[in-house]
Amino acid sequence: MILCDVLKGLENSPPPLWLMRQAGRYLPEYMAIRQNFDDFIQFCFTPRACVEVTLQPIERFDFDAAIIFSDILVIPHVLGQKVSFQKNHGPVLENVSFEDVLMKAPDVSIKHALAPVYEAITKTRAKLGSDKALIGFAGAPWTIATYMLSGGKTSDHSACLDHPFLNSVMAQLETSVTQHLIGQIEAGCNVLQIFDSWASSVPQNLRDTYLYTPLRRIVQGVRSLHPNTPIIYFGRDVSGDYAQLLDLNLAFGVDQFVDLETLKLPDTCVLQGNLDPQKLVDGNFEEDIERILHVMEGRPHIFNLGHGILPQTPISHVEKLVQLVRQNS
Ligand code: CP3
Repeated sequence: MILCDVLKGLENSPPPLWLMRQAGRYLPEYMAIRQNFDDFIQFCFTPRACVEVTLQPIERFDFDAAIIFSDILVIPHVLGQKVSFQKNHGPVLENVSFEDVLMKAPDVSIKHALAPVYEAITKTRAKLGSDKALIGFAGAPWTIATYMLSGGKTSDHSACLDHPFLNSVMAQLETSVTQHLIGQIEAGCNVLQIFDSWASSVPQNLRDTYLYTPLRRIVQGVRSLHPNTPIIYFGRDVSGDYAQLLDLNLAFGVDQFVDLETLKLPDTCVLQGNLDPQKLVDGNFEEDIERILHVMEGRPHIFNLGHGILPQTPISHVEKLVQLVRQNS
């Protein structure tokens, strides 16, 4: 598995290629399955459908890794805060009493409640070629907490920082996220990615408290049972902080806001990402691909976007990206 080899420092080139949110609405075959479900969460809890959409981008583009089709919001959902998705609106999380949710949450068995996700992982792993890695994932506690505490209105994160239940919600999420990541490895995932999409809304002086200390404990918890599974941390818009996390031995996802040449990280540190998803929509990405491949030459690198692929991305542009990455590396 080239993705695992690069993440373990065994191989440097050519860079493995996959795209964040690669199973999704830009694919007509995804939309065909999607329309069978009114409820997105129900879709996430139907293993047969999850296996199928997880494999779709591999079949179409021959990416080097599949990411299990699920969502970071399955955790709040099983902890007792129902999640729904309204068309073109994004997620809406139920208005709950956090006192109630937090009282019951410690009794929720993640292994049991998220069993359909693990079933989908095991079945996907069995169908996936042995050269392809299967990536499991979870949201970081802060990113999940912003959805829980705001009900989904992600524009108002400062209110989350002042929320009376922030610390207890974060503590519960740390435990549940750790269990969910372990469950995904045990079901068959080869690599994990932690999405901290809203990391940069935590002010610098609070980032240890709300981002990096929980991350450390999660990584330690996972590694105490599974020391060899590579972990990628995608902290969106906080890559300036990655130098403080080098001792964790993580790979780092890099968003499109960063100039890779100015990132001062050691040559041994594995980096993933950076191509602007909007450029993939627009179609003028050839030079960017060449630039990224050039800057990353000789160091461990995973080709990816700086954030998830956008639903309006033309398939022909993804095909061109695959061709350019493979022929230039
Ligand atoms: O292909 C893959 O990457 C695997 C599946 C995956 C989904 N969500 C499926 C999905 C992954 C890895 C995620 C992660 C996720 N979910 C994040 C972190 C990554 C990021 O993009 O920042 C976040 C913040 C969420 C929460 C979430 N889920 C939002 C905000 C939305 C609605 C807006 C949007 O981007 O669509 C979702 C819904 C969702 N999750 C869809 C998919 C394919 C679209 C829903 C649909 O098909 O109707």
